[in-house]
Amino acid sequence: MKEYSFKVTAAGRINIIGEHVDYCGGKVMPAALSLKNTVYIRPNGTNKINLSWTTLPDKVSLDIDKLESYKDLKYGNYQAGAALMWQRAGHKITGCDMLQDCTVPFGSGLSSSAAIEVSTIAALAAIAGEKPDSVEIALKAQQAEREYAGVNCGIMDQYASACGKKDSVMLLDCHTLECEYLPLQLGDYSLVITNCKKPHNLIESKYNERREETETALKLLQQRLDINCLADLTVAQFKTFATLLPPVIRKRVEHVVTECERVRVATLALKAGNMEMLGRLLNMSHASLRDNYEVTGKEPDALVDAAQSQSCCLGSRLIGGGFGGCTISLVKTKDADEFKEFVYNAYYKETGYKAEFYASDISDGITVEKLN
Ligand code: GLA
Repeated sequence: MKEYSFKVTAAGRINIIGEHVDYCGGKVMPAALSLKNTVYIRPNGTNKINLSWTTLPDKVSLDIDKLESYKDLKYGNYQAGAALMWQRAGHKITGCDMLQDCTVPFGSGLSSSAAIEVSTIAALAAIAGEKPDSVEIALKAQQAEREYAGVNCGIMDQYASACGKKDSVMLLDCHTLECEYLPLQLGDYSLVITNCKKPHNLIESKYNERREETETALKLLQQRLDINCLADLTVAQFKTFATLLPPVIRKRVEHVVTECERVRVATLALKAGNMEMLGRLLNMSHASLRDNYEVTGKEPDALVDAAQSQSCCLGSRLIGGGFGGCTISLVKTKDADEFKEFVYNAYYKETGYKAEFYASDISDGITVEKLN
């Protein structure tokens, strides 16, 4: 790759806990993965961004003056959206060749799209000689996901992809964007990442629907309470005012309020090294995503059930937007191989899908390396 000017990477992510609360102003606990998107980039002296991929035969050429017109591309739409939002924010886009190499499995709930958007912006900035703040990149990447890809997402994925730190989880307040980094010390335990391999094609529409439900809830509650976001609502307030809410909306709010409380307790558990407590919180989070937020489904539930049935597993839950994708399980390291074998077989028997396991370190967010 010597012929390129820079090698720029941005990470995929897991989320320990704090699911579907980022767009409600809650705290989340993601961590960046060594599964990542790498962009090799060099200026090409034209007004085109020429895209190619290590894993695809496709080649795509984007006209810098028409970046808004590539929404329907199968490949290259995320790069176009990211470049467009960066351009609209007043940054110069330089014609370039970009070779993309993504090791985050697509559609897995590990945020391949955020990794692509963030690394594309960071790469464009690198060849323009800019050194932007990673948070600014995350915000523009989020805008691309919302306005270009049409998923009205929160900030968690892009923030984690841009600002992650090796061996640390982030305790990110999605209302203020304050972020505390905590060492991910799990003692005798490890996190096992498992893909249920069910394509999650409902994700965009259902995700946006959940978001609208929480916005409706906030408006209803604001008629009686002085709150800025749903995450401001305490468990006690929820109990008092729950009857103001229609039944389905009430379940959604119950998830948000209890999940925010679980993040608070999980932070204490992690700091104290209390793995049993952390595991219980993962299980409770999954139950709430299943019963109150209704974003799991047959396959993710079967995968989590198989994991939770094993005594070496302290907790397991679905992560990300839902309706498919990956789970994380907190598993005794010495028993991890047997655990995987059991889960693979039990899940296959139940659903006919072949679960996939990913080995990944917790890693940095954006990295930029000058090649020549
Ligand atoms: C997706 C979104 C995030 C977040 C999660 C659910 O990954 O992109 O903003 O809302 O779902 O926690």
